[in-house]
Amino acid sequence: MTHNIGIVGAGNISARYMQGLQKYPELKVNYIADIDHARAATLASEFAVPRSGSADALLADDSIDIVINLTPPNLHARTVIQALEAGKSVYVEKPLATTREDGLLMLKAERENPGILGSAPDTFLGSAGQTARHAIDSGYIGTPIGASAFVRSSRAETWHPSPGFLFQQGGGPVMDMGPYYIAALVNCLGPIRRVSADARIGSETRIVTAPDRTVDEIPVTVNTHASAVFSFASGAIGTVLMSFDIWDTTLPRIEIYGTEGTLSLNDPNTFDGDVRLKRREHGEWQVLEPVTPLFGTVGTPEQHRRGLGVNDLAGALAGGPHRASSSFAFHVLDAMLAIDEAAAAKQTILLESRTERPAPLFNS
Ligand SMILES: NC(=O)c1ccc[n+]([C@@H]2O[C@H](COP(=O)([O-])OP(=O)(O)OC[C@H]3O[C@@H](n4cnc5c(N)ncnc54)[C@H](O)[C@@H]3O)[C@@H](O)[C@H]2O)c1
Repeated sequence: MTHNIGIVGAGNISARYMQGLQKYPELKVNYIADIDHARAATLASEFAVPRSGSADALLADDSIDIVINLTPPNLHARTVIQALEAGKSVYVEKPLATTREDGLLMLKAERENPGILGSAPDTFLGSAGQTARHAIDSGYIGTPIGASAFVRSSRAETWHPSPGFLFQQGGGPVMDMGPYYIAALVNCLGPIRRVSADARIGSETRIVTAPDRTVDEIPVTVNTHASAVFSFASGAIGTVLMSFDIWDTTLPRIEIYGTEGTLSLNDPNTFDGDVRLKRREHGEWQVLEPVTPLFGTVGTPEQHRRGLGVNDLAGALAGGPHRASSSFAFHVLDAMLAIDEAAAAKQTILLESRTERPAPLFNS
């Protein structure tokens, strides 16, 4: 079935949606909206999208059935709820919201309106996430005991011209990169039950050294170094480090440890890449064959294009499973917020949200 899509927010990531969605001929972008109408018009003309303008005009257009929301995180709740109330289904970029209250209001709006709500990240739907999930479900590592996940820093002030937003509320390594890592863990290991953590600001200011910088120094008002322990409902224990304060490291991205072996995952901010297995009887690591088709060529910008999650939402509208769903994204948000809360309270936080492991894309 063909879907008519409207994009709200023609900023940095929007072109990657336009490029990625070209893989899906039944997903047609017909409208681009932005408070900056000129920016919307430029993107529309670059990708031959017939119309552009305001979000209000987009929402009033009955021919549009799916809205892709690419506004900044602190605007997700308001703009997503407006779209749901206008009768649209919505796919929103990560994080779902920046507070639990906003996230709950979004879930309520979804329940009370005809459309459905999906959310990034969708990278766990790529061939690597699915191959890792298949390995776990097939018992290749036996029973999972533990996992480690390391957001290994990006010293964004060395390359981003105006990185201030990354160091304020709604930013930081947990909210910015955490969604990819936590979604990958929950896809493999199921929901998280408890979170304990400590976290701190690495330094109060950052000197911006990016060659094309628009600012020389930025204040840091969000924790930039967090260590957490995730206790999964399954009994597995996750060791999680999320930092913007590491100059260099040899840490892996994600590993999962089972009674029979170890699984080593690729960068969860990409769709495809090597998933490696070492069972106890193996002398060497073994690269697993991908169990689903690749989204794009490994090591190229294709890995940062978007669209798989929107296609998943379209499948759910046709009656299929909804994998990158609002309840999954809310659970990821719940866990991220719990890291700061556990650190501030010096207490373990019990997560109230529940989610299921998303249905796999491979034939099980
Ligand atoms: N840039 C990235 O590399 C990247 C990667 C992954 C995810 N994301 C996520 O994508 C989302 C957007 O990020 P970005 O980097 O493209 O941000 P951006 O600031 O470059 O773009 C946001 C756009 O939204 C527009 N906007 C703001 N309020 C609006 C409103 N009420 N109605 C219509 N348009 C409005 C702004 O004018 C701007 O053009 C965020 O949730 C972010 O976390 C970004």
